[in-house]
Amino acid sequence: MNQMNYRELDARYYMPAFSREIMIERGSGSKVWDAEGKEYIDCVAGIAVCSTGHCHPVVTRAICEQAGRLIHCSNLYYVPGQAELARKLVGICGMHKAFFANSGAEANDGAIKLARIATGRKRFVAFTHGFHGRTLGSLSVTHKPAIREPFQPLEPACTFVEYGDSAGLEKVMDENVAAVFVEPIQGEAGVIIPPAEFMKNIRELCDATGALMIADEVQTGMGRTGRWLAIQHTGVQPDIVTLAKGIASGFPMGALLARDGIEFRKSEHGSTFAGGPLACAAARATIRVIEEVLPDVERKGRRFAEQLASFGPRQRGLMIGITVGEPCPAVQKQCAADGVLVNCAADGNLRMVPPLVITDDEIDQAAGVIGSALSELSR
Ligand SMILES: Cc1ncc(COP(=O)(O)O)c(C=O)c1O
Repeated sequence: MNQMNYRELDARYYMPAFSREIMIERGSGSKVWDAEGKEYIDCVAGIAVCSTGHCHPVVTRAICEQAGRLIHCSNLYYVPGQAELARKLVGICGMHKAFFANSGAEANDGAIKLARIATGRKRFVAFTHGFHGRTLGSLSVTHKPAIREPFQPLEPACTFVEYGDSAGLEKVMDENVAAVFVEPIQGEAGVIIPPAEFMKNIRELCDATGALMIADEVQTGMGRTGRWLAIQHTGVQPDIVTLAKGIASGFPMGALLARDGIEFRKSEHGSTFAGGPLACAAARATIRVIEEVLPDVERKGRRFAEQLASFGPRQRGLMIGITVGEPCPAVQKQCAADGVLVNCAADGNLRMVPPLVITDDEIDQAAGVIGSALSELSR
């Protein structure tokens, strides 16, 4: 079916919550092909999901082998691969124990519950322009008014502080705060990197008030910034970390990790699908691939950003944002026409989060196309 007919089918039967144009049919490495056979270098990667690229043979093989043995069995039983994955994640994130979810939002919902149980408190603090998901729990700590307002009143109660404003945070912290939710780099906001001391200041204010520090690494984790976690660049140890997106190369999975002394006890949390055999197989294979490419992520990111230096990129590893403003959608469209997928995050910020396996050649080609589109349309 061509893209035109498919668009009609979609309009007839699928709720119109998204606006989209291209139909991607196939992917390999950092490239995808649409239904008309047009090739693109994919600097969206399912929004920082396809960390190992599309259909990496190690990941595809692991999923297929597991699918041939056991697709699902329920958490009523020991799940093959689950404890091994938990051990691995605990090790690379420097945490104590893991629990699984099916998405980033669900991992954050789990973190909200865990923080409430661990502290006995109900109030949360999060930051302006932060994004933590669309389930009612994760939405309540998400700032963007346009996506919150239709669902008010939201629980838990959350106070928002300007991202990066440590003095502002100090003013709202007290003994009622269960946790501070923070993205070490804001992704949906458009790759916003906070002041160097911000994570340390949050840690200190949490310690002073007995609140937990929750690092939402759903977008920044799993090697995206050149370390397993973006917060590892700062030397700060959070109490809870949430992961999803890049964790299983596109197989739906989320995870939360907690330090010693914070855990769900019997019946406090659960999920039918979370941490199932297929997701765990995909995640374990993904981690094996990321282990190989991780040492090169910072260099690749710098190579990408240097070629766009005149446009003022914000970059950490393979997470790059450029403030474009109003012409951002036109730039996105021009790049797609020229064979490169990029996307506009909030506030006219162009975002590039390509697979961690992207090659130097692909980086150079993509940067060339993006640079030309920006020169043509954004000045
Ligand atoms: C930082 C962050 N947290 C949470 C989420 C929600 O993840 P999901 O869409 O898997 O529910 C996202 C998604 O963009 C995100 O970027």
